[in-house]
Amino acid sequence: MDLSAFPYLQGNYAPVSEERDLDESALRVEGQVPQGLRGAFMRDGANVAFQPNHYVYPLDGDGMVHAVYFRDGHVSYKNRWVETAHLKTERKFNRMIYGSVGKVLPVPQEVIDAGGEPNPVRNTANTNVLYHGGKLLAMWEGGFPHLLNNDLSTVGLYDYDGALKPGDALTAHPKICPDTGQLISCTQRWDSPNYWVQIFDAQAKHVRTIPVAFERKGIIHDLQITENYVIIFYAPAFHSLEKAMKGEDPFMWEPELGTKIIVIPRDGSGEQRVFETDAFFSWHFCNGFERGNEIVIDYVWISSIPFAQAQGSGAEKQPRRMHRMTLDMATGKVADEEFSDVFCEFSRVDERRMGKDYRFGFAASSNREWGDAHGYNCTGRYDFKTGETKLWEYGPEANAGEPVYVANPDSEREEDGWVMCFVYNPGEGAFLSILSAGDFDRGPVAKVLIPGRVPNGFHANWMEGLTL
Ligand SMILES: [Fe+2]
Repeated sequence: MDLSAFPYLQGNYAPVSEERDLDESALRVEGQVPQGLRGAFMRDGANVAFQPNHYVYPLDGDGMVHAVYFRDGHVSYKNRWVETAHLKTERKFNRMIYGSVGKVLPVPQEVIDAGGEPNPVRNTANTNVLYHGGKLLAMWEGGFPHLLNNDLSTVGLYDYDGALKPGDALTAHPKICPDTGQLISCTQRWDSPNYWVQIFDAQAKHVRTIPVAFERKGIIHDLQITENYVIIFYAPAFHSLEKAMKGEDPFMWEPELGTKIIVIPRDGSGEQRVFETDAFFSWHFCNGFERGNEIVIDYVWISSIPFAQAQGSGAEKQPRRMHRMTLDMATGKVADEEFSDVFCEFSRVDERRMGKDYRFGFAASSNREWGDAHGYNCTGRYDFKTGETKLWEYGPEANAGEPVYVANPDSEREEDGWVMCFVYNPGEGAFLSILSAGDFDRGPVAKVLIPGRVPNGFHANWMEGLTL
């Protein structure tokens, strides 16, 4: 493949061509892996299988999941493409057939006649991988999720026993309520501007749909829960499928419209509140919780839509910062402030504190200037009790992925858990970093070094109890 035209397919963003299974003898462990952990760290990401016609980061690219399994102090590694109908069709024809979300291609008639996938928009399955209700799912916000087996083999599209209807697009960013075990998710559709909160119980059975009406379909990537509410950001960021079909820049940013914050009662009753503020964009929440009449929302703020047709133009390099927003439910006022001046993205928390007051946020963070293909060379810890930001730097040229909090099964304290992420450090290679959440200064308590490359990717999770 000639990937030279696309900045986000350079260096450690470039795809890998192999699916591998490595046991501990093929890995190298520095330090000591926490002995009591039983489960898997898994991370999804884009890994183009065939030469792309165009490439929009972070929306394009075939999904590939990389997993490190933990059992009795031992580790093993595996990576697999998600076997989507689009990828299977391209494999059958041994070439790229489906275009980019930024430049959609019509599907050739001979592909349709041969039983190939007819939808011109690729279900990438590349955004997130989640384990809930015994289901391991690779997720993409433009369509159904893909059900995977524990060994990362693909079962196929998953519709939650018919709860998802044809054309429904399930978010890649659901939240799990630590009190009820519910999955709070949402669907959007290509053919409607509206939004539907979808709630599933702890066994992944559909419980409730809460419709939210919009006049225009926005790019809504993440959602946040509190004890009683679901919160979403409706930024003035829009995508036109018609423009994408014509090869025109399909992304629109209309800052004069401002950004709306929608507060939706989780039980489906009562009014949905709308707060308004100056325009900003955000990919990711960190956490949120209720405090008296207020809702506190921590999130990564971005000044505008962070990608453009002309990649490498600098449009995707604008500042990103951890912010704390406070909504006053009595007065309707919005207060928003920068929490830290560190450049960050991929914010996460101890999932036991999801929707509750908490101490630590974690995010992929940077203490260097961005180059043409950006990245994060640190794991950051954002202490909302002390106001301190602490960074662990892996190296000036390193890239650190989304940090996932892994609870210590013997402790309720946030400080006693671990923070895991994939890191690539030139000269050192690829590894899974395991930091102590309470002691960042110590550096990784263990590194699981993986020969070859693990490309930079998107979202990761800890799959408690999932083993091979
Ligand atoms: Fe995301």
